[in-house]
Amino acid sequence: MYIPSENRYQAMRYRRCGNSGVMLPLLSLGLWHNFGDITPFSVQQALLRTAFDSGITHFDLANNYGPPYGEAERNFGRHMDADWRPHRDELFISTKAGYDMWPGPYGNWGSRKYLIASIDQSLKRMKVDYVDVFYHHRPDPNTPIEETMGALDQIVRSGKALYAGISNYRPEQAKAAIAELKRLGTPCLIHQPRYSMLDRWIENGLTDMLKKEGVGCIVFQPLAGGLLTGKYLEGIPADSRMARDGRYLKPDSLTEENLGKIRALKAVADARGQKLHHLALQWALRDEAVTSALIGASRPEQIIDNLEILNAPPLTDRELNQIESALAGSSEA
Ligand SMILES: NC(=O)c1ccc[n+]([C@@H]2O[C@H](COP(=O)([O-])OP(=O)(O)OC[C@H]3O[C@@H](n4cnc5c(N)ncnc54)[C@H](OP(=O)(O)O)[C@@H]3O)[C@@H](O)[C@H]2O)c1
Repeated sequence: MYIPSENRYQAMRYRRCGNSGVMLPLLSLGLWHNFGDITPFSVQQALLRTAFDSGITHFDLANNYGPPYGEAERNFGRHMDADWRPHRDELFISTKAGYDMWPGPYGNWGSRKYLIASIDQSLKRMKVDYVDVFYHHRPDPNTPIEETMGALDQIVRSGKALYAGISNYRPEQAKAAIAELKRLGTPCLIHQPRYSMLDRWIENGLTDMLKKEGVGCIVFQPLAGGLLTGKYLEGIPADSRMARDGRYLKPDSLTEENLGKIRALKAVADARGQKLHHLALQWALRDEAVTSALIGASRPEQIIDNLEILNAPPLTDRELNQIESALAGSSEA
């Protein structure tokens, strides 16, 4: 039987999610990779236990995480039975729908038909009565925002999710979704955008708008899938995501431009006496508008390693400037 560490809440720091009552850990764990049928159950179990033992209370899923689609949720249901049922109220669990999930016109995008069928399927696979957040995974240009947000509102009111969230919405789309959810009386808890040193689009209006609206922000892929660990600087290691599971992280991301930025960022980290991925995580969390950074891990040691940021000194203005210069490809300002 799993007995969680008694010290699990001692080191972690929690931030308030927008204007809500919910606190999220600085680091959250995503189950996009390493929870499908290619990862042994024991490895998955060690990842989840290590996270929770360190105060990581938030696990993030989606209907189509696998492989195959649905398998991460199905495995999560097995972990619920094995470990988590007694600790359900200490966990903050999310899932999503919005990308392709099942064949035909009702298994994708943002219709009420898709979202309501999908949450019902997710709850069965995950063997939970409700999730804490249900997200619309990406904006749908062809379904009225009133229909999609109406489905999220209904899902919350029916008790299948406690809160509603949106993911990958651009600032104007997010603003419209947030306004519609507010009108319906189910405020948007959180936005989940991609954000890292290599992808800074949220700085162009999204975070400011979320701050103003009192909506939280959990950023995904703060390590750019592993690029910002520096592990690809000398080639593609055999035990890395790019070598093991090339579905999304492909060698064509190893451009001279990206490698040049990563080398320059590593020099900033070296000067701080820090690992590059610690610098990347601290940087992604430097604005309090970012509630949490959503990481992945293939081994429990990576989670422990990433938690070293809790003891690291904050980034100074000079270091932030050095990071800007590294990303701009110039020498220090
Ligand atoms: N909403 C969306 O559309 C969306 C899209 C994508 C992801 N997400 C969410 O974001 C989560 C995180 O995505 P991600 O896994 O791509 O994020 P990431 O944190 O940028 O990358 C994680 C990968 O980096 C490597 N890594 C992490 N810590 C390391 C360490 N200390 N040392 C060495 N390598 C380390 C591992 O890869 P190796 O396999 O190389 O060890 C790990 O699997 C997902 O699980 C999902 O929940 C959401």
